[in-house]
Amino acid sequence: MSKIALNKNLKMIVCVGPENIIGDKQPQGNGMLWHIKEELLYFKNITLGHTLLFGASTANVVPIELMKKNREVIVLHRNMNIPKLIEELSSQNKTIFICGGHSIYKYFLDNFEIDEIYLSKIKDTVKIAEAEEPLYLPKIEDYGYMINSSKDFEEFTAYIYKLKK
Ligand SMILES: NC(=O)c1ccc[n+]([C@@H]2O[C@H](COP(=O)([O-])OP(=O)(O)OC[C@H]3O[C@@H](n4cnc5c(N)ncnc54)[C@H](OP(=O)(O)O)[C@@H]3O)[C@@H](O)[C@H]2O)c1
Repeated sequence: MSKIALNKNLKMIVCVGPENIIGDKQPQGNGMLWHIKEELLYFKNITLGHTLLFGASTANVVPIELMKKNREVIVLHRNMNIPKLIEELSSQNKTIFICGGHSIYKYFLDNFEIDEIYLSKIKDTVKIAEAEEPLYLPKIEDYGYMINSSKDFEEFTAYIYKLKK
């Protein structure tokens, strides 16, 4: 199956723990299994002023009303034509961030070529809540992405991945 060709406006942002864990199918609180203030701030700084896409389940647990104050937020449902939506947003020259959850990350990895993947990898020292039904990000290296840059923070390392040329 061929993918929708590389779109310079399309980015992904995700935070992973050990073995690429990203959350719980039955999310508690804001859905995150860890509390890292500097990572939330990093997410905010990267996405500020841009267009954020969330799956319906994640949208139920993250503070989207707060984000709408300084970002455009679009909640994705299965009955939407996502390729058409992406085409429309990029024709308006918007920078689009795929913000999860699990099924949305997988859908985009399977169907689109993404310009940049912002992947925060939390450090082993960070305490992680137990997940009843853990969800894992697929290995993005298997999709042809490789590390382009990295920046170290106290509790996580922020990587940016790009497609191998
Ligand atoms: N660590 C991180 O960076 C991070 C970031 C975000 C989320 N998460 C975690 O991810 C988990 C949620 O993931 P999830 O997979 O359960 O839910 P999700 O991906 O957030 O939302 C799933 C919903 O999105 C809609 N949807 C739209 N297009 C779809 C498609 N192509 N395929 C499937 N669904 C589509 C469907 O809603 P309708 O049924 O209404 O059509 C579906 O029920 C939570 O634990 C959350 O905390 C982690």
